[in-house]
Amino acid sequence: MGDFSGKVALVTGAASGIGRALCGALCERGATVYATDVREDELRVLEEEAAGHGEIRRAKLDVTRESDFRRVLDQVIDEHARLDLVINNAGIGLVGDFRQIDIEDLRRIIDVNLWGVVYGTKLAYDIMAARGNGHIVNIASSAGVMPVPMQTAYAMSKHAVVGLSRSLRIEAAVHGVKVSAVLPGLVDSRFFESAKAVGDYDYEEEMDSLPIRSISPRHAAELILDGVRANRELIVFPTSNRVILWLFRNFPRLMTPLLAKTTTRSLRA
Ligand SMILES: NC(=O)c1ccc[n+]([C@@H]2O[C@H](COP(=O)([O-])OP(=O)(O)OC[C@H]3O[C@@H](n4cnc5c(N)ncnc54)[C@H](O)[C@@H]3O)[C@@H](O)[C@H]2O)c1
Repeated sequence: MGDFSGKVALVTGAASGIGRALCGALCERGATVYATDVREDELRVLEEEAAGHGEIRRAKLDVTRESDFRRVLDQVIDEHARLDLVINNAGIGLVGDFRQIDIEDLRRIIDVNLWGVVYGTKLAYDIMAARGNGHIVNIASSAGVMPVPMQTAYAMSKHAVVGLSRSLRIEAAVHGVKVSAVLPGLVDSRFFESAKAVGDYDYEEEMDSLPIRSISPRHAAELILDGVRANRELIVFPTSNRVILWLFRNFPRLMTPLLAKTTTRSLRA
């Protein structure tokens, strides 16, 4: 997608962090944005803030509900007769000793991080493929291509999102539809305080101890839209994250013990 002006976009998980920043950035570039989330009050604020800068339409959409996606996508087509961009961004975290994570928590993370992306991808794809254009962007994580101990369930869900996106991308090209996956490094959002931490695992403290700086959601949104414009298969940022992923791809035998040493201290204490 070369230019976002006049385009119609839908973003999930738009009430905070990366999703919220994406809505603002798209709106400033002249797109009509359907900002969706389960947190309606915060969507209302986003809509008010955007007034006069572009068009943001808020809609309640729980990504774990196929019927919510169908309702909002029907609304988009009724109102605009087009769907150019869908960003499946909503996601949650689940961290800590895998022994202490119960099945319900696993079901929940699969429902939000995987089924939420599957519904958003499948239903958008059907519309876009029939029309011969559109771009689906799935927000995964660096945990979608490398192991992340103590975030095992999260990494599982994001690996699935990467597999879905990369495979569909090749198939979708035949129908004029683009598919990208985003692998962000650390972004300064509410994600870490909202994530469910089991046992006495202190997620925020773990993240603070990393020698890597986080970037702002706004910066992340700009980099994502640059990657969408360039139709990249994998949109990877910031530079520190690109380096880490490169090291993992090329030197897994060196990196895995290092990762184990730094992340599983609490299991051995
Ligand atoms: N923050 C990071 O460092 C980071 C790094 C890599 C990947 N990511 C991914 O980026 C995406 C956005 O995360 P963020 O950092 O902006 O976090 P965030 O917690 O600030 O935002 C996530 C949004 O998703 C919404 N959400 C949660 N469950 C939902 C549901 N069932 N239906 C609809 N919306 C729901 C929340 O209400 C929230 O507004 C996530 O998929 C996350 O896994 C984040």
